[in-house]
Amino acid sequence: MKVLIIGSGGREHALAWQCAQFDEVGQVFVAPGNAGSALENKIYNIQIESEDIPGLIKFAQSELIDITIVGPEAPLVLGIVDEFQDKNLPIFGPSKLASQLEGSKAFCKDFLARNNIPTAYYEVFTKTLPAIEYVKEKGLPIVIKADGLAAGKGVIIANTLSEATSAINDMLDGNRFGEAGSRVVIEEFLRGEEASFIVMVDGNNILPMATSQDHKARDNDDKGPNTGGMGAYSPAPVVSELIFKDAMENVIKPTVSAMKKEGMPYTGFLYAGLMIDHNEKVKVLEYNCRFGDPETQPIMMRLKTNLAKLCMAATKGNLDLESADWDEKTALGVVMAANGYPNSYQKGETITIPDASSESKVFHAGTKLEDGNILTNGGRVLCATSLGLNLEEAQEKAYNLVNKVNWDGSYYRTDIGFKGL
Ligand code: AMP
Ligand code: GLY
Repeated sequence: MKVLIIGSGGREHALAWQCAQFDEVGQVFVAPGNAGSALENKIYNIQIESEDIPGLIKFAQSELIDITIVGPEAPLVLGIVDEFQDKNLPIFGPSKLASQLEGSKAFCKDFLARNNIPTAYYEVFTKTLPAIEYVKEKGLPIVIKADGLAAGKGVIIANTLSEATSAINDMLDGNRFGEAGSRVVIEEFLRGEEASFIVMVDGNNILPMATSQDHKARDNDDKGPNTGGMGAYSPAPVVSELIFKDAMENVIKPTVSAMKKEGMPYTGFLYAGLMIDHNEKVKVLEYNCRFGDPETQPIMMRLKTNLAKLCMAATKGNLDLESADWDEKTALGVVMAANGYPNSYQKGETITIPDASSESKVFHAGTKLEDGNILTNGGRVLCATSLGLNLEEAQEKAYNLVNKVNWDGSYYRTDIGFKGL
């Protein structure tokens, strides 16, 4: 079996690494990949960018790729799945239309509202004055979101009217997020605990992935600016059996059936960012049309079934015939970022990384290989991930792994997993 993974982050290194574990997988290509994927057995980086759809199609055709798995949202929102399917190339991900669940927050909120799927109350605005009036009417704190893709930076939690006003002005008049901010969603501030609820969907059938929890804030105790995620673990104890059932019955199943009913059947990873309130009820904070990063890294450490095989079954609508086996252990990943992330930071620093063992693995994200050296090449650089008998042990082992990475310019949280302990 030949597999193509699209993307260059920690998520893509982990997806490729998982597929490469299985004998029936001969080669895994990653476009464009990072130093981590470049250094693995059976994994080959190819120099095609993840949004170069014609280049990726040509490669998949010439290599007779059996299954393409798309990591990031940008190529999905551009319609890579539709274009591959036009050429009869097997690819796992949502269509351009279905990817709007992540590509437009207004689309997502309107979809949730008309299908009675629980979410924060909201309204969509294109003009500043009515938006500010709405904030005054609803009160503070309140959440202001750029409509389009903004790399995790388009969400402002405003605690004062002046914060709200300047966020609205920045997005609608100041062009802060370009086209992505030409509409804003203003919504209720929800309290509770967040969890990442990720499933595979084949248009009809749903195969849940293991539960997980991310840490979106940069600093300890969930302080500091919002990031793409500073660490994650799986399973997430906060997702009790009751909450799992609530999420499946009231969020995921109605979403999959409504997408089908509305003429945009959903195929791909579907990631619901959930808020769980003190009454153990879930609401959707957002939908992502892909796997989470860094959630993928601990989840892939636990997945014992060949992911490429699951994705192939899903492209044929056969997910109901499949199941996923999970390691009972807990996996925890600590993101090591470049000092200064998510703002400005250095690139090109040399790092050395300890060898992997059966229970510990450093996944790469923003790295590149130059003359045999591993250099930093992004904000989130590594994710040190370990399995343990329980959350405490996984945490201890992951931080031991962090300590073995040789890199002076790193920054990481020292409390990943604290929510579950
Ligand atoms: P999003 O990209 O929509 O998931 O937002 C990023 C982060 O902002 C979430 O992970 C939450 O921590 C926070 N957030 C988003 N929407 C809300 C909300 N309505 N209430 C409270 N926090 C929110
Ligand atoms: N870790 C959050 C995300 O992937 O969106």
